[in-house]
Order: sequence, then C-alpha cells, then structure tokens
Amino acid sequence: MNLSRRHFLVGASALTVLPNTGGGAPAPRIIEARVGKVQVVSGDYPKTEIWGYDGGVPGPMIRARQGETVSRKLVNSLPQPTAIHWHGLRVPNEMDGVPGLTQDAVQTGGEFLYELPLKDAGTYWYHSHNQSTEQVARGLYGVILVDEEQAPDIDHDITVLLDDWRLSETAQITDDFGAMHDWTHAGRMGNYVHAHLSPALHGVQRNQRLRLRFVNVATDRIMAVSLRGLAGKLVAHDGMPVERPEDFEVLVFGPAQRADLIVDVIAQAGETAQVLLHERDAAYVLSELPVKGQGPSAARDPVQALPPNPIGRIDDVSGAQTVSLHMEGGAMGGLRQGTYKGRPMNARELVEHGQIWTFNGVAGLPDEPLIFVSEGEVIRIPMVNDTAFPHAMHLHGTHFQEVFPDGTLGPLRDTILINRGETREIAFAADNPGDWLLHCHMLSHQAAGMKTWVKVT
Ligand code: C2O
Ligand code: CU
Repeated sequence: MNLSRRHFLVGASALTVLPNTGGGAPAPRIIEARVGKVQVVSGDYPKTEIWGYDGGVPGPMIRARQGETVSRKLVNSLPQPTAIHWHGLRVPNEMDGVPGLTQDAVQTGGEFLYELPLKDAGTYWYHSHNQSTEQVARGLYGVILVDEEQAPDIDHDITVLLDDWRLSETAQITDDFGAMHDWTHAGRMGNYVHAHLSPALHGVQRNQRLRLRFVNVATDRIMAVSLRGLAGKLVAHDGMPVERPEDFEVLVFGPAQRADLIVDVIAQAGETAQVLLHERDAAYVLSELPVKGQGPSAARDPVQALPPNPIGRIDDVSGAQTVSLHMEGGAMGGLRQGTYKGRPMNARELVEHGQIWTFNGVAGLPDEPLIFVSEGEVIRIPMVNDTAFPHAMHLHGTHFQEVFPDGTLGPLRDTILINRGETREIAFAADNPGDWLLHCHMLSHQAAGMKTWVKVT
C-alpha cells in the first residue's frame, strides 16, 4: 500500500493524545491594539512609544492564500475606541470597520471579530478607521498579502512600507493631531520619512528577481519614489494586477496607494540597489541593499502579468448613472459656507467645528449617501478638485477604474490622487452591497470634512 499523507495521519492519531478541541472551529487569532515601544529611529535615539497591533509597527503581517477566509478578533487595549479597516479587500460590508457607518467603535476593553474572505490576490493593508488622523499616525497599521494560486517566479518577495513620522527631538510622537494649520493645508506631515522592508534583507545578488510591494501608510504625505540598480515592470496598482506590465520611472504614491513591482538586480556586485525618495528637487536614499555576488548568470525572461483577480473590469460606461463630486475648501480655497450635520454654517462656524473642506457643499459624513446604487449597476463619479491641494480619493468596498477624457478606462484602483485644479472621473460596477465610504485618504482632510458614502442595495 502506498502510504499517503492521509493514511499516515490516521495511523499517527491512534498513538497520539490529541488535544480536545470540543469539535468546534478553532478560536480566531487575536489582534490586540495596544501601546508599545519600538525603535523607529535607529542610532542613539530612544525607542518611540507607539500604538500598534500586537504592540508593534507595522502590525503583524497577515498572509494567506487567495480564496481563504482569515479571521482576527480585535481586542482593544488602547485608551480610545478603535476599529480596523481592511483597505482594498472586498469584504462584506459589516466587516469594513468604519465606525458610524458599518459598526460601532470598539471601546477600550472591548472586542470585535472580523471575518475576511480573500477574494483577490495582491497587496493590501489594514489600519485603524477611528480617529484615524491620530491612530494611524501613532502606528496602527499593517500589511495584508494575499498569495496568488500561481505565484510569479521570484527570488525575494519584499514589502516596502513607506511611513512618515512627526517626532520630537527624543524620537517621541508629537501630540498635535488636530492642528488646524495642518488640516487646512496639505495635512499633518512628519519629519521622519522611513521605508520599512520586510523581510529585512542583508543583500541581494546580481540578476536576482525581486517582487517589491510598495505601500504608502503615511497619513498625509505623497511619496515619489524611484529605484537605482533595479529594473523591471509594475505589475499591480492597489493590489489589482494590470493587464500588461507597465514601465515606470518615478512612482508617485498618494496616502494608501500601493504598487507591486517585479524587478531584476542590475547593479554589479559591490554596488547597492537603492530605493530613492524624491522631495522637491532632491533625492534621498530611503533604503539600500548591497549586491553580494552574482546570482543567475543571465538576465531573466520578460516580466509576465500576474493572473487577473475575479473582479469584472468595465468596458462601457455609456448610459451609466453619473453623479459629480465637487471638492472645495482648505487654505486659499475661499470656502464661504457649507452644511455640517444638517446645519448650514458660515466659514467661521465650520472652523469652530473643525471642518474646513466640503464635498458638494457638505462637510463631514452626510445622513444621505452621495448616491443610491443597485447591485450590478455601473456608476460614474467625476471629481472636481476645486481646492489648492492634492487629494487621494478612496472608495471602500470595490475597486474603480479611471475614465479618461477619450472614454478609455484605466487600471483597477482603490485610491486616486487628484492634483489641485484637476477633474478626474472614476467608474465602478457596484458588485458589493452595503454602505461604502468615499473619502480623502489624507487623513487630516478626512477629519476636517472630506467624506461621503455610497449606498449599494
Ligand atoms: Cu484606508 Cu477609509 O480607508
Ligand atoms: Cu485631501
């Protein structure tokens, strides 16, 4: 008889005392939001007190296969209520983690069980969605990797998390999360930009192939990044594979945006492969990997597209219901009035309520959705940025595509960066029923008014 794995296990169970699980499902893994201490800045700086999942920054990586369901029981040991949003995952609405829309915030000492079916492969992330300007700035985020059934052929799979900290001289997070001057301008910028690589590699070899998964977890900072000593293609935006791998030079990531790259090490042994950050006219080395010796002797085959995810792409938007979104406010925006919590207010009253940005004249989450949608319907939302700042607009629940002026449709994304003065249009097929937030992912702007929602029934 052929001793298959199954037979072996059956045989072994007769000799082993098995723990009594009571026959029920295994207890879900716990993810605890709590205070911790982390070495954010290296060198002689002290550890930074942070708020993190399981006390770390980033929180524990969640990694599973496409098609699996992962569950995590959030336990809140923070001094504030909280909730977790699973950014980019097409989860059932009640798992979306938005207090005030899909659940109540989890109080200190409370818990909430999240069950997340992983429909799509790719690079996603999770973060607090309560008082997020403060909670994300304090460190409440982590990465979710959903593995393709057929993973691409690579030597190293590296997540590059881009973060931005506002630290004191003793490397402590400064306690100024609600500063109006930040909220009315580009948001709360840090003074320490950092790239966190995981796993931490000590070196690579020439001609090795890397998958680099960039995730911008900064609350407000746009990150422009390029590579040196590495060459290849972009294969996914915001988790979703592109149909044809794209060339790139400088990649611009608004808050929450991601990209997967497949690149080969072209630097020579003895050199370094680098990730550069571009700020104004200067470039800084964010991260570098020494090239130690020769890997495969020849250059690799061309980069192939990743297998597509089971989400429909739209090919026709003619006749789709259209509702536009007019963004106003902020410094130099000349906002005169708006409605907040159903009350018309002038600019001074809005500021007194911490509100400085509006969508279609409304600051903060309106009672009525921006639009009512039937499941299966295609919706178009032209967004007019009538402000003096860029905004990173994020839709919960599904991915959208940009509609270009010539009518063609862009790649699937969940966050779009819209520069000052620009009008950009998105379209999506409402494939996920529920109440879904649409907001600026510059978390200071969101707190100061930039949010609305879409109802899919
Ligand atoms: Cu990444 Cu509404 O969030
Ligand atoms: Cu914004």
